[in-house]
Amino acid sequence: MSPAPTSDVLGSGPAAPSLLAAPLLWVTGGKGGVGKTTLTANLGVELARRGYRVLLVDFDLGLGNLDVLLRLRPERTLEDAYRGRCRTERCVVRAPHGLDVLPAASGSPEMAAADPVRRAWLFGELERLGAAYDVVLGDSAAGIGPDVLASAAAAGRVWVVTTPDPAALTDAYGLIKALDSWAGACGGDVATPELVVNLAGDVEEAERVARRLTRVCERFLARAPRLAGWLPRARGVADAARFQRPFALGRDESLEVACLRRLVAALEPWLPPPAAAARGRSQRRAGPKTATQAPVAGDR
Ligand SMILES: Nc1ncnc2c1ncn2[C@@H]1O[C@H](COP(=O)(O)OP(=O)(O)O)[C@@H](O)[C@H]1O
Ligand SMILES: [Mg+2]
Repeated sequence: MSPAPTSDVLGSGPAAPSLLAAPLLWVTGGKGGVGKTTLTANLGVELARRGYRVLLVDFDLGLGNLDVLLRLRPERTLEDAYRGRCRTERCVVRAPHGLDVLPAASGSPEMAAADPVRRAWLFGELERLGAAYDVVLGDSAAGIGPDVLASAAAAGRVWVVTTPDPAALTDAYGLIKALDSWAGACGGDVATPELVVNLAGDVEEAERVARRLTRVCERFLARAPRLAGWLPRARGVADAARFQRPFALGRDESLEVACLRRLVAALEPWLPPPAAAARGRSQRRAGPKTATQAPVAGDR
């Protein structure tokens, strides 16, 4: 079995200031099916296990499935809030793993279409809600639409998930290139993307894949990503998804859990220190401990 990545390929990574009250990690990747949602959900579970107050946001607004991976049954989604049917707070689901989730609609073509007005609304809402959290994790939709690029520009860290598959690598490069142009065009301070290689056979393959992508970026773009970490192709990950149970709660000695923890370790220096997280926890509003819609005063 391959070891988890060595520390020289891990790092805190260059970061732009997050536009939200809490740091925003934007998990994106260009291609669908590369593991963005799997990674976001499990990072959230592991960060919550370590005492951070975590908000997971499903930015796949028209075809969300983050809630499914965590076996949640949301009664309301961001679409309800956007259409004025409830306050955004009422869409927040408290997952049993100790984290909060803002679920998206599933099968809503209108919500899937990029929309600058809706984007501004969503970021306004997150700016407000984010104050109650230590970190916000954004699960991006696939593609390189303006919603994906603009959200990256609002994030303190941008993780691009790819796999050794040539099509996934091509799309990851396309996304990084689009982010570069977006940053240039809006004169924006966009965080330099970092890579997460998923579905790798071992650490050597993950590093090889990252090197290939980094070299092309160095050659053609203003900035090149570095490897934040990797995840193995693992039966434990696939089975966990099938049973709607995060693999982060799996066996401590499994390679996927070790790799996930290394990824979280790469994030931690960027987050508020655990002591602040613990202080914050005591101020956290009371809420149900199981998977239910968190009740908030002022519901419409
Ligand atoms: N490391 C992994 N090992 C095995 N299966 C994985 C792994 N990562 C993701 N998968 C599977 O790949 C599929 C797509 O993952 P998902 O996270 O939904 O991708 P995305 O959000 O990028 O579309 C899911 O069925 C998931 O269980
Ligand atoms: Mg997804």
